[in-house]
Amino acid sequence: MSNNIRDDLPWWKKTTVYQIYPRSFKDSNQDGIGDIPGIISKLDYLQELGIETIWLSPFFDSPQRDHGYDVRDYRSIASEYGTMSDCERLIREIHAHNMFVVFDMVLNHTSDMHPWFIESRSSRDNPKRDWYIWRDGRKPGGRKPPNNWNSMVGGSGWHYDELTDQWYWAQFLPFQPDLNYRNSEVKKEMFDTLRFWLDKGVDGFRLDIIHTIYEDEQLRDNPYAMKYLPSEEDSRSFFHDNIHTIHHRDNFLFVKELRRILDEYSDPERFLVGEVGAPYDILKRYCGDVTNDGRTDGLHMTFQFKSLNTNMNASSIRKLISDFETHFPEPYIPTWVFSNHDQMRRISKLGNDIPLAKLNAVLQLTARGVPFIYYGEEIGMLDHNISLHDAQDPVARKYSWLPRPLLALITRGGKISLNRDNCRTPMQWDSSDNAGFTGSEVHPWLPLEPRYHSINVERQESDMDSLLNCYKTLLQIRKRNPALHAGSMHLHPSNTASKHLIVYDRKYRRNDMVGQSLRILLNLSRTPMEVDRIDSDCVLLFSTHKDTHPLDDRDVILEPFEGIILDIQ
Ligand code: GLC
Ligand code: CA
Repeated sequence: MSNNIRDDLPWWKKTTVYQIYPRSFKDSNQDGIGDIPGIISKLDYLQELGIETIWLSPFFDSPQRDHGYDVRDYRSIASEYGTMSDCERLIREIHAHNMFVVFDMVLNHTSDMHPWFIESRSSRDNPKRDWYIWRDGRKPGGRKPPNNWNSMVGGSGWHYDELTDQWYWAQFLPFQPDLNYRNSEVKKEMFDTLRFWLDKGVDGFRLDIIHTIYEDEQLRDNPYAMKYLPSEEDSRSFFHDNIHTIHHRDNFLFVKELRRILDEYSDPERFLVGEVGAPYDILKRYCGDVTNDGRTDGLHMTFQFKSLNTNMNASSIRKLISDFETHFPEPYIPTWVFSNHDQMRRISKLGNDIPLAKLNAVLQLTARGVPFIYYGEEIGMLDHNISLHDAQDPVARKYSWLPRPLLALITRGGKISLNRDNCRTPMQWDSSDNAGFTGSEVHPWLPLEPRYHSINVERQESDMDSLLNCYKTLLQIRKRNPALHAGSMHLHPSNTASKHLIVYDRKYRRNDMVGQSLRILLNLSRTPMEVDRIDSDCVLLFSTHKDTHPLDDRDVILEPFEGIILDIQ
């Protein structure tokens, strides 16, 4: 393949993202809490790993009741994480390492300790009163919430405040009151906050629960729905169809306003990725419409959380790929998310099976879309099993009263986790006490996952067959080959002779220049699989199992759970 092939997709469609949960990545000052200087000290590691963009969960000033998703000041840094100058150095250093940086923006709500909310709740005629959503309770006496709306985490989202005898609205937990975006001052302030960070060189934002920005102005009750438990793609929950609180039509205009702010910046372009729980058609609406110049005008991308709970079998994976391709064709772009700070880690769902995790990595890094790798995913860090009673996570604590049988029902027998601490344990750097996350005498903010003695970076770096080296190689191959980061996607139809096999081609061609065609084959079964001979002179670029394959005169035999990449030019 000629080296001078260039493609014209914007960088953010071709990138690979790594999510850092700052509290758990690396502690530099021995207080048991990860921090910004700690992250800076690990940038060489991330560059060598080969990821291209770093998304950091929030590290703004916060009372930390939801570990940063409860912001007290959007323009300053929480003292346990560092200072503004540490943060500026982080941005500079990430760029100096040839990577991009994405911050996490919580627009929907602030902390109840934010000075705006403290003012807002102080009296009915305070100038900040209307920055939040205050309403009278239902008559008689106003002792009942204004209407039947539930929060996303269950129970009424209205909270009574005695001082002014009114109720405020909170889409998430009670200490996270929703901002009122129908107030133009709020909008202006938050839009300027985005510019504040963009001016400092931040390359984009991950937008926290952006599907909950607006609610029905008339406060109409949500209708009944025959569904109790919340789920990623369906906003009905707790027996309500949340039509007046989630995906309000004004949200779709709001994301276009956000996009215009990001479009004020170029060189490089900046991007938005939205956290939205919704079916594909709604996710796509958050990405906006296709404009005359062939771009989209909403969020650059949204997470497609369907992948989180997709089983590792050929028919489920095939459906996932084909749904992504159907719903997010160019100029839209899918995302590949298997873990994050709210979910049980993927490898724990795969039964701590390394071959399956490698196969999953091949899919994540070779299918069309932007991969999001959660810290520790590259070494197969497992979920810890921390009880709800010991939880730091406020959502887990809210449910710590649940009797075991009910808990088993809600977590589908342990398939999902109610305690988000489980996936937020400290990064496992080496096998020393506290895994190199912090000093061995220090008490880390969350306990280490006990298997860190064998599952850690240091150990896997020296093992060529490790999951870490599998990620590294795949990331390099992805970077070197435009077909993988910029090419089209062609999923082969399933074939009855090999129903456990997934095959897709990634093709890339620009004008009349030499193109590139890669074929990815994934054997999702426990048995070796013979696949059709490929006539052209194909070259094996990668295998999860070994470096070389007998490709010359024979058909390709895939080992159980083997994934390979062939150059079939
Ligand atoms: C998002 C975050 C989660 C947080 C919640 C409230 O879902 O990912 O961690 O608790 O929003 O901000
Ligand atoms: Ca620290």
